[in-house]
Amino acid sequence: MDKAILKVEGLSVRFGALKAVNKVGFEAQRGHITSVIGPNGAGKSSLFNIISGAIRPTGGKVLFDGRDTTGCTADQMVRAGLSRSFQITNLFFELSVRENLRLAAQFLEHGRGLLLPTGHSRRANDRVDALLERFALHSRADELAGYLSHGEQRRLEIATALACQPKMLLLDEPTQGMSLTDTQETEALIRELAGDDLSILLVEHDVELVMNISDHVVVMHQGEKLADGTPLEVRADPQVQAAYFGEIREPAHA
Ligand SMILES: Nc1ncnc2c1ncn2[C@@H]1O[C@H](COP(=O)(O)OP(=O)(O)OP(=O)(O)O)[C@@H](O)[C@H]1O
Ligand SMILES: [Mg+2]
Repeated sequence: MDKAILKVEGLSVRFGALKAVNKVGFEAQRGHITSVIGPNGAGKSSLFNIISGAIRPTGGKVLFDGRDTTGCTADQMVRAGLSRSFQITNLFFELSVRENLRLAAQFLEHGRGLLLPTGHSRRANDRVDALLERFALHSRADELAGYLSHGEQRRLEIATALACQPKMLLLDEPTQGMSLTDTQETEALIRELAGDDLSILLVEHDVELVMNISDHVVVMHQGEKLADGTPLEVRADPQVQAAYFGEIREPAHA
């Protein structure tokens, strides 16, 4: 089996004249945490959108788990074993925590995630119970997702992405808007999740978190890959220092 679970080659997407992602290539190894960092508008979410099948690339290739998945739909990618969370929350606020998880857990068994009567799938229900436990959401199971705290919603979103039993999890800014405590808990959770059965691809603004937990870091800037390597390697890269670390130390411009 190939050590790389994901290979991206010359990936590009244009929005009109804007090259949001421009010939980006990197590999993510099985069981590793691979992170993508870069300033606002660097193309990180667009890169995620291509890999996860939300948008089609205008050039290049995505190879996932030994298959060419370029241009596959999001549904096809979930079936292939790639699941994602969104930068902006993607939960059903008017459904309970348990129903949100059950929809995702039933996706694999019933095709398009139809809301079937409770107890329809024993296997899906067992998976939901395990996730409620693991993500400390058991006491909130019957609460509407819309009533959860921001931290709980982000946690539920990761749990929802995991309910489809992916081989790779894409997390787009999972700590956005979180308190320091919630951020630290999420960091520990991500670290714990990565392993033999699960590889993680993370987009995150919290550079310290990224440097702490990543095996490999890809730095993007204006749609292009500026550098990639271990956290130490990218931190030491003069180009990255100038374009990214230099930039974020300056006062924010309006
Ligand atoms: N659907 C779209 N249509 C047109 N332009 C888009 C679209 N999606 C993204 N863009 C533009 O592409 C560029 C890259 O955006 P993207 O959201 O991928 O960046 P990002 O690195 O995720 O930024 P952030 O850190 O703010 O989340 C930006 O200039 C953005 O305005
Ligand atoms: Mg983004």
